[in-house]
Amino acid sequence: MKGKTKAICAASLASLMLLAMAGCGGGGDKKAADNGGKKLTMYWGALEDFMVADINAFQKETGIKVEGVRMSSGETIGRIKAEKANPKASLWFGGPADGQIQAKQDGLLEKYVSPNAAKIPDQFKDKDGYWTGVYVGYLGFASNAKLLKQAGVEAPKSWADLLKPEFKGQIVTANPGSSGTAYTMLATLVQLKGEKDGLAYMKALHKQIKNYQKSGTAPARLAGQGECIVGISFLHDAIKYREEGMKDLVLTAPAEGTGYEVGAVSLIKGGPDQDAAKKFIDWALTAKAQEIGQTVGSYQFLTNPDAKPPKQAAEIKDTKLIKYNFEWAGAHRNELVEKWNKAIKD
Ligand code: F6P
Repeated sequence: MKGKTKAICAASLASLMLLAMAGCGGGGDKKAADNGGKKLTMYWGALEDFMVADINAFQKETGIKVEGVRMSSGETIGRIKAEKANPKASLWFGGPADGQIQAKQDGLLEKYVSPNAAKIPDQFKDKDGYWTGVYVGYLGFASNAKLLKQAGVEAPKSWADLLKPEFKGQIVTANPGSSGTAYTMLATLVQLKGEKDGLAYMKALHKQIKNYQKSGTAPARLAGQGECIVGISFLHDAIKYREEGMKDLVLTAPAEGTGYEVGAVSLIKGGPDQDAAKKFIDWALTAKAQEIGQTVGSYQFLTNPDAKPPKQAAEIKDTKLIKYNFEWAGAHRNELVEKWNKAIKD
């Protein structure tokens, strides 16, 4: 397809995974030849349209062919683990760093300190060089204004508010085992209240839940579509859905403080195309690359101080955050998810 950008996306409804291969003609084809036909396969934790935009821009600049698969954090860890003896992908982009911290701990990542990581402040990168942050997102509540009115209740302003009788069976969240977003929520509650009270809260919240989604991007969308009163998601996703036409969405955040994510990029141990993956990491840390997400509605804050943050994120900049401990959250991921599973069954 000369002179044209080509994007092929195939989604399986069962897994909600997305495979995207983007090719670009013109200069891209020539660069591909200059690059000795290099190819890169990556696992992607942010939204699909963001993935396609990044792949197209990177490919245009470097000529390196890229194939991406969108998965939630828990799925990505499972996939990389299963492929450990014969890794199929060499790069993991996006999803809260907790997942990558667990992967580092499980020996699934390769250390890579990009020369461009020097620009990224210390609080957004691994001290040992296994992952580097590219974006930051705040967890919150996305409510449907019409349904709130019908139920005669205000949008939740605290974690405690979610337990109000009016919200029974009216809250959608994701499963912390599959979703990085939902794991951020679980780790936030345990950090806020301590393990015993945090799990007791999650158990009480379970009684309010309509259903658990695979991805944390879904709850805000479902609230926007009127499927539930409240969705628990990262707030930037709710801003995107509201901008795309779900005008009834109202955004709030808990007064006790909320958790946040540092979306990270890392190199998968033993994956093919390591040079191409390193090039992608170098590129993803630049201001120019970080500004691509906002062109397709991904409104996370950015980690490169030279990158222009999306103006849409301004409305949530004063959200009260907890001192989220990423190292602790990543190291206790399996254990906490197991305890949560047990707590909600008891
Ligand atoms: O914008 C998409 C997003 O919210 C990212 O900011 C986040 O890293 C990711 O989705 C989490 O997805 P999941 O909950 O499906 O793992």
